[in-house]
Amino acid sequence: MDIQITKTAAPKVMPPENELGFGKYFTDHMFVMDYEEGKGWYDARIIPFGNISLHPASTVLHYGAEIFEGLKAYRRIDGGVQLFRPMENIRRMNNSAERMSLPAIDEQDMLDILTTFVKLEERFVPKSFGTSLYLRPFTFGNDETLGVHAVKRATFMLIASPSGSYYKEGINPVGIMIESEDVRTVRGGTGYAKCGGNYAASTRAGERAAKKGYSQVLWLDGVERKYIEEVGAMNVMFKIDGVVVTPMLTGSILPGITRKSCIEMLKKLGYEVQERLFSMEELLESLEKGSLEEAWGCGTAAVVSPIGKLAYGDKEYVIGGGKIGEVTQRLYDELTAIQWGKAEDPFGWTYKI
Ligand code: PLP
Ligand code: COI
Repeated sequence: MDIQITKTAAPKVMPPENELGFGKYFTDHMFVMDYEEGKGWYDARIIPFGNISLHPASTVLHYGAEIFEGLKAYRRIDGGVQLFRPMENIRRMNNSAERMSLPAIDEQDMLDILTTFVKLEERFVPKSFGTSLYLRPFTFGNDETLGVHAVKRATFMLIASPSGSYYKEGINPVGIMIESEDVRTVRGGTGYAKCGGNYAASTRAGERAAKKGYSQVLWLDGVERKYIEEVGAMNVMFKIDGVVVTPMLTGSILPGITRKSCIEMLKKLGYEVQERLFSMEELLESLEKGSLEEAWGCGTAAVVSPIGKLAYGDKEYVIGGGKIGEVTQRLYDELTAIQWGKAEDPFGWTYKI
């Protein structure tokens, strides 16, 4: 792929690694390319990071035509840099594009964009274990007209942020509130797509949870409000009587790459994993009975995150004494060892830059 590169005249100073937080700092450059119906993608370029200008009628500003992905470039223990299952993100981005009537991008071109960009910004891939260069590709519609239709013009961009832990708690257990009022999406809706609107509609419940001291909400299905779906930025897994249960992909849940990896890893480690409908009733019963041994969330930003407390209505349940469970810890250790190149990758998940 032909990418025009214009380097910045004002390179930034990399912030101290222990102060990174999540998504606060950005690298020197950004990738941009444009799309027009009939012409396809054109003008692939890397330019200095900066503000962009948009027509006030731009589709994204009115009708939310936007999709994104999130993946990380990891600093291997041997000093190299690698991605984790990038083709999975690329394919999911194209599935999201299809749902939102935005243009797809050739898989190989997208991989070229990611690798060219990460090579250029390599000095921003932090070195401490647990930190990474978070990559955020996104596409938005920018027709300069107010008609509602599939976009004819779009822009794809890639920005990157050297980041630390997503939760301020790090790998420590987080508190999650079960949301019974708002729903995230419904079957037939956009739940399986990673589109901005899903997140915009979820922040009200997120704020309510935060006010009560919880990190995120646990969503119930939007039709019956009966089945557990996922957390704000993570899929969710439970260990009940030794068996790992995770909500099946019904179309309203984001098909997480970390979820898929955890399932494959757990099976390899010999655990029974059930992907099925998992009701709120069953969850409450397991909490009351004490058969819920562990609960954790999994996602690119959050990695594997133990859930120490679950709130439902005015009740609060403590899981596993509020401590990290054995399987949660094991998954975290094994997955992060592969991602940060501390251990062999028997699955072939890593992609060296
Ligand atoms: N669910 C939601 C709503 C998310 O935003 C994310 C993060 O991308 C996930 C689940 C986990 O997906 P992945 O493991 O692909 O990052
Ligand atoms: C992820 O990439 O893991 C995310 O969920 C991003 C999140 C901040 C929306």
